[in-house]
Amino acid sequence: MHIPDIIIAIDGYSSTGKSSFAKIVANEFSFLYLDSGALYRGVTLHAIEKGFIDDGCRIDVDGLEESLKGLDLHFGPEGTYIGERCIEDEIRSLKIAEKVSPIATVPQVREYVDRKLREFGKAKRVVMDGRDIGTTVFPDAELKIFMTADPVIRAQRRAAEMNAKGMEADLESVLRNLQERDYIDSHRSTSPLSKAEDAIVLDNSHMTMEDQMIWLKKIIEERFCK
Ligand code: DC
Repeated sequence: MHIPDIIIAIDGYSSTGKSSFAKIVANEFSFLYLDSGALYRGVTLHAIEKGFIDDGCRIDVDGLEESLKGLDLHFGPEGTYIGERCIEDEIRSLKIAEKVSPIATVPQVREYVDRKLREFGKAKRVVMDGRDIGTTVFPDAELKIFMTADPVIRAQRRAAEMNAKGMEADLESVLRNLQERDYIDSHRSTSPLSKAEDAIVLDNSHMTMEDQMIWLKKIIEERFCK
């Protein structure tokens, strides 16, 4: 199926399978996949390592803002990088997950990430996933999808994914972290997680990846291939 040069924005709650879906969609249509959450996770790793966030999640906003000027966060062959250092595995840990939502509430962090995303997205033929892609980063994206799923199913998927990578993850703490992140992400004052008016909802609680692709192809065919 050939589709025109468009931006596909995939937003939704944590662990709804946005990135797995977005990667497969990008692959199917030869689009570039961009994981916006990875940039927030990268800034969080940076903030922890440089001491701009403490264990109580208190943030030195001024120090963090200043340090972002020299932070070379980008995507490369193995995922996310700071300079030449690949941080892809480190940013997927629970340690980062616990602090990323507070970091993502900082407006200066959001400006930093938005600037990078808009630069990367210039080329069109991009699938980008996150929380505010269809509302803030690319409000004119031609196709917007909002993903959701039952929280317990999401926690089960996330715990299985972490266990498969050899990371410790008990279902209860994963579920708690997920619900906390949903709350912070949806209630922050800058670019909260919300469905864009023109986004199409995909509840994949009981859908396989194949089901989701069939669903998407039907929409694309109706919208862009007539
Ligand atoms: O998609 P993810 O779980 O990797 O995202 C990590 C965090 O980053 C998530 O808790 C909220 C934040 N985020 C955001 O605020 N806006 C985005 N566009 C993407 C992620």
